[in-house]
Amino acid sequence: MVTRVFSGIQPTGLVHIGNYLGAIKAWVELQHRYESFFCIVDYHAITAPYDPSQMQKNIFDAAVINVAAGLDPRVSTIFVQSHVPEHTELAWLLNSIAPMGRLTRMTQFKEKSRLFREEINAGLFNYPVLQAADILLYKASVVPVGEDQVQHIELTRDLARKFNVTFGDTFHEPEAHLSAAPRIMGLSDPDRKMSKSIPGSYIALADHPDKVRQQILRAVTDAGPETGKPMSSGTANLFILMSQFSPPETYERFRREYNEGAIRYSEMKRVLADDVVDALTPIREAAEDLAARPDYVRQILGDGACKARRIAQRTIVEVKLKMGLL
Ligand code: AMP
Ligand code: TRP
Repeated sequence: MVTRVFSGIQPTGLVHIGNYLGAIKAWVELQHRYESFFCIVDYHAITAPYDPSQMQKNIFDAAVINVAAGLDPRVSTIFVQSHVPEHTELAWLLNSIAPMGRLTRMTQFKEKSRLFREEINAGLFNYPVLQAADILLYKASVVPVGEDQVQHIELTRDLARKFNVTFGDTFHEPEAHLSAAPRIMGLSDPDRKMSKSIPGSYIALADHPDKVRQQILRAVTDAGPETGKPMSSGTANLFILMSQFSPPETYERFRREYNEGAIRYSEMKRVLADDVVDALTPIREAAEDLAARPDYVRQILGDGACKARRIAQRTIVEVKLKMGLL
């Protein structure tokens, strides 16, 4: 049995360094080891208020930035969820075995319902079932995601198990694959995760170097290390970023200075900003090149959808047979 990797990203505007460190970087590494599927999940994005006139641009931009960050269309299948209608078909079939109570307890659902009090729609409620369908349609077993998605992958496992028990062995139970930095916190508010819906909290992969520097220099830290006190969340977050973007000796030097109480956050931020700019510059430049070749980008997504659909159709036939629908 081939090991398949599946993951998704919502086309909701900007892709930030939290997405990159939590998920995209792992996708880029895993694609060379396993058969990989990466999906731009537009049907998930419409469960929150959005601007229809921006959707096609957001999908295009999501494809561009992910390919620029290293997803290779020659080895990975990159496609748009709504181009493969079997995703919603399997989601409906899985709805018939998905426990309401379980969906009510999903953290992301509870958080988003608080945020969009006026507009809690059934799509938002069923969002994790569609996510399970995305993964199970390709019988994927490895799902690289940030920490906030672990609960959804656990639900996916449970739905796979329940389906297998009820209708006969069909699906793998997939596992979340967490990176070394699965939860990057906001720069302006390090007690909440970095998110594109909180301005000031994120650095976008395509941000201009001046903006990157400014965001890091403004990041919330503390008044300095105090003996006996744990490291503040803002400082801890900067150290995580440094562990990912800077050479190990740089990280170790500032850790030592922190332990000795001699750290100067302004200097740490300046060094970190340079290293982040160095890491993001090739991504930003590749994204500019790709954006100038829209036909090529559309072709990647077209080819991806064809390839994905062949597998998706096979799974749907198998599932419908098992459920007595064929
Ligand atoms: P989204 O933009 O919500 O579709 O997220 C795409 C991927 O990025 C998912 O795997 C998320 O878990 C991951 N992700 C989003 N925000 C963060 C963050 N602040 N830290 C780490 N991973 C994140
Ligand atoms: N819910 C995920 C997020 O917000 C996106 C997603 C949709 C996904 N389908 C998926 C992630 C399947 C992994 C696998 O980040």
